[in-house]
Amino acid sequence: MKIGFACDHAAVDLKNTLLEYLKGKGYECVDYGVNDPTKRVDYPIMGRKVAEAIKAGEVDKGVLVCGTGVGISLAANKVPGIRAALCTDCFCAEATRLHNDANILCMGGRV
Ligand code: RB5
Repeated sequence: MKIGFACDHAAVDLKNTLLEYLKGKGYECVDYGVNDPTKRVDYPIMGRKVAEAIKAGEVDKGVLVCGTGVGISLAANKVPGIRAALCTDCFCAEATRLHNDANILCMGGRV
């Protein structure tokens, strides 16, 4: 499975930690940025990147993180066919795959 990752400036560390973790588990990971926490970037731009990549078939699933995970999930969900779920625990993460067919997991780097 190929997984696309993106974040805004508020969650660079979390994005990279998750990407490295899943890479270590054998998943093919694509980094859509950003990687500089000192340069502000609007989270809707980053949310859309991974959402559009899933739509285009570049990646199968996505992981999006911003400060809270709220903004970037709202942005990704504006793309038709995208079901981005903001999860704060393992139960919700598993349940949203099983019950909602979520294709993007969102989390907050400041949470
Ligand atoms: C950026 O400062 C912050 O607003 C953003 O990361 C996110 O939390 C929005 O939902």
